[in-house]
Amino acid sequence: MTIAIYPGSFDPITYGHIDIAERSSKIFDKVFVALLNNKEKNPMFSIEERLDMIKTSLKHLSNIEVCSYTGLLVDLAKEKNAKIIIRGLRAVSEYEHEIQMAHTNTILNDEVETLFMTTDLKYSYLSSSLVKEVASFGGDITHFVPDFVEEKLKNKFVEINK
Ligand code: PNS
Repeated sequence: MTIAIYPGSFDPITYGHIDIAERSSKIFDKVFVALLNNKEKNPMFSIEERLDMIKTSLKHLSNIEVCSYTGLLVDLAKEKNAKIIIRGLRAVSEYEHEIQMAHTNTILNDEVETLFMTTDLKYSYLSSSLVKEVASFGGDITHFVPDFVEEKLKNKFVEINK
């Protein structure tokens, strides 16, 4: 049984993330979509809100389990018995940081492999930060996130602008 982890901040989950999760679920027997619980990143959505959005977005995928983690990704991999870390790659500009993380993880645990998956061309421009920026100015984000995520973003900005 091949178990993989697809980690990230998912603040919030976008169609780009959903696409990687869907394609991963076809390749691996089990995929843990793992949300990093890291206060340093100053996320817009709480862990609970993000977990809820991820679970709702991926509920159609039976071999996906959503979880959160604190600390090192390789420790989570060990705990979940996962030998593969999946990362989506959008552009060459991301490569440097991603390869740094992949090498670090290999040094920490050489039983874990990082596999890069190219994002679908139609989502290659998409990022959670851009979605938040567009939403903050009341722009249309229907092409970027599912409708329940769009709703959450709108409500968040109403709260912030109160
Ligand atoms: O969506 P992101 O923010 O690009 O994801 C980055 C993430 C969460 C995969 C990465 O920062 C992570 O796993 N951090 C946990 C701490 C850790 O293991 N660091 C060492 C090598 S990355």
